[in-house]
Amino acid sequence: MIFAANFKSNHSRASFKEYAGILGDFWSEFDKKDDEIIIFPPFSAFCGCALNGKNISLGAQNFYPADNGAFTGEICADMLSEFGINSVLVGHSERRALGEDDEFVRAKFEFAKAKLWRVVLCVGEDDIVHMNGNTCEFLESQLEGIDLAYEKLIIAYEPIWAIGTGKSAKPEIIAEILEFLSLKTKAPLLYGGSVNASNIAMITQIPHCTGVLVGSASWQVQSFIELIKASKA
Ligand code: PGA
Repeated sequence: MIFAANFKSNHSRASFKEYAGILGDFWSEFDKKDDEIIIFPPFSAFCGCALNGKNISLGAQNFYPADNGAFTGEICADMLSEFGINSVLVGHSERRALGEDDEFVRAKFEFAKAKLWRVVLCVGEDDIVHMNGNTCEFLESQLEGIDLAYEKLIIAYEPIWAIGTGKSAKPEIIAEILEFLSLKTKAPLLYGGSVNASNIAMITQIPHCTGVLVGSASWQVQSFIELIKASKA
């Protein structure tokens, strides 16, 4: 299972250092088999963090698709490589809500692919598309122009209506969408949207589910550890 943690704009450098120490100790003792953790903290937390170990790494929540240049306020590849970052989130609905359209998402994907980075590409529909039963069509449009055979691609299905609401999508809905995606790509498929210690065991049973992208339930280290443990219950 892949346990990806999206911290969003939470954790200072100091608090993440403490978090990473506790998580690292837990992970070094954990019976991992095929399991992996990828933490996406804020950029500032990359510095001074000692999260090294087997199947545990850091990724970037965002980047501007250039090595460097005149892009005020953006973080580019040169800055990420200084911290050895080679996993990135692309297409998260909160970035899309800030103005990243499909074209820009594609440009970021292409750039990341050229860098041979691992790309966790987020796709997902809002409640209107969901209620109208147009989810598959909508996801199809979000995936247009994305190289679904890219070997370092991971796709996270994150219905917007389930993100941060405390109500994850029902297993039958997740199953239907992951089945649909599995017909298009061999990439590992994650589910995200209110994943927590109470629903993780059910979610990981869903066919084609290779892992989860966790927001709020990952922000406290004990909560994230409980979630990982519960996935094996
Ligand atoms: P959530 O966030 O787990 O708080 O719903 C998931 C995400 O935004 O990736």
